[in-house]
Amino acid sequence: MSKEFSELIKDVKEQVKYLEELGVENLNANLPEISISQKSEIRVTKSQNEISQDRLEKFVPTKDILKDVISKNKGAEEKIESERPKRRSRLLDSARLSRLPSLPKRNLSNRNLQQKQDKINEQRGEKDKMAEPKLNDTLFGDISETLPESSETIEEIRAEIGDCTRCPLHEGRTNIVHSTGNRQSDLMFVGEAPGADEDAKGEPFVGRAGKLLNKIIEAIGMKREDVFIGNINRCRPPGNRQPTPEESETCKPYLLREISIVKPKVIVVLGNTAMKNLLDTKVGITKMRGKFVDYYGVKVMPTFHPAYLLRDPRKKREVWEDMKMVRDEIEKSAE
Ligand code: URA
Repeated sequence: MSKEFSELIKDVKEQVKYLEELGVENLNANLPEISISQKSEIRVTKSQNEISQDRLEKFVPTKDILKDVISKNKGAEEKIESERPKRRSRLLDSARLSRLPSLPKRNLSNRNLQQKQDKINEQRGEKDKMAEPKLNDTLFGDISETLPESSETIEEIRAEIGDCTRCPLHEGRTNIVHSTGNRQSDLMFVGEAPGADEDAKGEPFVGRAGKLLNKIIEAIGMKREDVFIGNINRCRPPGNRQPTPEESETCKPYLLREISIVKPKVIVVLGNTAMKNLLDTKVGITKMRGKFVDYYGVKVMPTFHPAYLLRDPRKKREVWEDMKMVRDEIEKSAE
């Protein structure tokens, strides 16, 4: 138990560091030094500056535990036992819990549904995209409240993609960059397309933007391997240009089928291009970010792309606000 306690403090310190790196200012969270005697007795030493409790309450998921540690400096061990599961632990565990199958069975496979939708779009001559996303009568071709049930696997999708030459992007690629991560996660991130680092490694978000994405994930108490990460396009566009609408339309169905397999509670869609593609909207990211959009029962949070944050770090504050909502939504759904 003592070990658990000191590990918890270590975790919290790391989280505070991430938050500071993300641009959250004035945290002023000088956490207590912990020493564990041979009898496993915990001593909490006050740090030079008092911990700003309201800051901790605002930013650190383990606020209840810390509050007790700070205010009493004793009896904390017992408190941890009773209060730890209530917040942080649940958040971490939620990513690993298998979810109950709550979605209705559908007769058509996702592939057929996508084809059906393509046909409907063709008949409608749907060149004009909607001003606002109307998600219930687009993607899968029927009015549905939830994602279609999927009976395929991620491996089957990969096998079908094969050594893809369906769009011109295959010409310049080194590797196809498939989605990665926890296939049972409650949280999924969707980006635009791989860059040079991802193309070289065959894994999404491994470059500078990816490192920042890792910090964003860790700031809400999760780890990269807890979440599922994918892109609308799986091949790197030359010179990192935006994928064309045709290129995105060719590749996107595979991601949508993966979404139906993973069935995350929340999808964070990163940046304007990915958001417009996923949600089929013309509204820009600045207007859309910070509010959940319902997408077949999945809550989608549009937010700025980490590459944009690298160019304009002042926008980290907004992303942090969005991510707090994401964290709270996942917590709520795990209750
Ligand atoms: N940007 C993206 O949108 N996706 C990646 O995988 C890397 C950078």
